[in-house]
Amino acid sequence: MSETVLEIQGVSKSFAANRVLIDLNLSVRKGEVHALMGENGAGKSTLIKIISGVHRADEGSIELNGKTVRFHSPFDAQAEGVATLFQEIQEIPDLTVAENLYAGMEPRRFGVFIDWPRLRASAQRQIDELGLHIDANMRMRDLSPSSRKMVEIIRAVQKRQASVVIMDEPTANLNQDEIDALFSMIEKLKSRGISIIYVSHRLREIFQIADRISVLRDGKLIRTDAASRLSEAEIVRLMVGRELPEFYPKRPAPPNTVAMRVRDLCVPGELEDVSFNVRKSEIIGIAGLEGSGATSVVKALFALRRVSKGTVELDGQAVELKSPRRSIDQGLAYVPEDRKSDGLFLGKTVGFNVTTGDLRRYFSWKGVVVRRKPAREATARIVSRLGIKSDGRFAKIGSLSGGNQQKALVGRWLTGRYRVILLEEPTRGVDIGAKVDIYNEINALAESGLPVVIYSSELLELIGMCDRVVVMRQGRVSAILSGPEMTEEAILDKALVRTEDDRERPVAHLAAVSA
Ligand SMILES: Nc1ncnc2c1ncn2[C@@H]1O[C@H](COP(=O)(O)OP(=O)(O)OP(=O)(O)O)[C@@H](O)[C@H]1O
Ligand SMILES: [Mg+2]
Repeated sequence: MSETVLEIQGVSKSFAANRVLIDLNLSVRKGEVHALMGENGAGKSTLIKIISGVHRADEGSIELNGKTVRFHSPFDAQAEGVATLFQEIQEIPDLTVAENLYAGMEPRRFGVFIDWPRLRASAQRQIDELGLHIDANMRMRDLSPSSRKMVEIIRAVQKRQASVVIMDEPTANLNQDEIDALFSMIEKLKSRGISIIYVSHRLREIFQIADRISVLRDGKLIRTDAASRLSEAEIVRLMVGRELPEFYPKRPAPPNTVAMRVRDLCVPGELEDVSFNVRKSEIIGIAGLEGSGATSVVKALFALRRVSKGTVELDGQAVELKSPRRSIDQGLAYVPEDRKSDGLFLGKTVGFNVTTGDLRRYFSWKGVVVRRKPAREATARIVSRLGIKSDGRFAKIGSLSGGNQQKALVGRWLTGRYRVILLEEPTRGVDIGAKVDIYNEINALAESGLPVVIYSSELLELIGMCDRVVVMRQGRVSAILSGPEMTEEAILDKALVRTEDDRERPVAHLAAVSA
């Protein structure tokens, strides 16, 4: 029988009256990839935080390599060989990539002076070997979120003494190249006998790398089994406790009236002459590899980029691309890809976060809630429609599970009166059941007549949700595909850049430089 590295027995945990984990058992074998799955709020991150010393369990025990352990901090856990990549991106230090990778273990000359040239060279070599396009001399804060995550991953994984590496939704911020690099790192770890606990909502990914899968529901372990003995449908049923209706809900075809007209949009270094129309009730997808300008299109429409040329019209009126504030005033709603830095007020309540989208309606100009009852009703409506799980209206949004924070971020734009909805990665980190809830809400907005623009790195999501997809390549529109033309192959084909020797390669990383 294979050796057990980590044995969790009878672990329970409550936050105030909220029972988050209930008498949970889990055992992880040496050298396996053990996936943890479950709906948003099921308790996955809490379990991980207990294993890695962030939280203390109320009851139960943890054995690591046959020895009962009680960690009092993440440092304790690390010293004993548990390396953890948390779900939320950690602090952004003002260090370079190389410094960050080797913090505390810098190569020294004469055992005293830090050998900077060697440090930089070896960091760069390590990055290059993984096929990543990151400059080791860049400051962490100047990297794109995905490059930052990759650096965190490399740092966690290179800790020699680790016997268990825990990854909580590591791919939520990554592009395909980076996911490939991550998976090859995971293979290497496995071959060194290191065990990996892997949390993700992406079934495809789970089946690609997991040896065994454990499903959690409402804080309880429902089942642990070999990946080969479970099907996608079965996992979904175990997670959600019911069969799911059709994943991408159908919608009538949009009428032929143009609602938004984008003409010759230029952003220096990012976009060149981008033009497309969005019809009333139409959902348009923006696809493209990292560096293609796909996310810049959405950001430019919300005035988060300096547009040097081009026009945007809504219902025949020119939109002033001046500032996000001005964009909101003109009726543009925007869900950012990075919910932590651009989206949520983590110290505020769920109610505050979902109603700030509609400032005019509920708040005085000083930010005081003036219309309490309608604000409360709007909050209750969104919480129930998207199934946002929290300890109630007064819970701080920072205490919600990652997926539930995401639902609140999307929910904010469902209260207001907007004229166009711009979404980046609307279902990032959201469980399968809740994805369908979000799709239904987006569809309802479209059906009410609004044009919707979605950027997503998940092609199947774009294909499932959109009427048409605008494919970006090197800052330009390379194709606009509609209906049955929208296949994964066709989109990738239009997104890839061919080099002179006609080999197919993804676009070089412009994005790493222009985060
Ligand atoms: N620090 C905290 N204070 C209060 N409640 C918390 C705290 N951390 C988590 N919770 C609650 O515990 C429950 C489980 O959260 P957890 O983050 O473990 O879920 P998860 O399975 O990781 O979900 P997701 O897939 O959305 O990341 C949620 O109801 C959450 O609100
Ligand atoms: Mg989580």
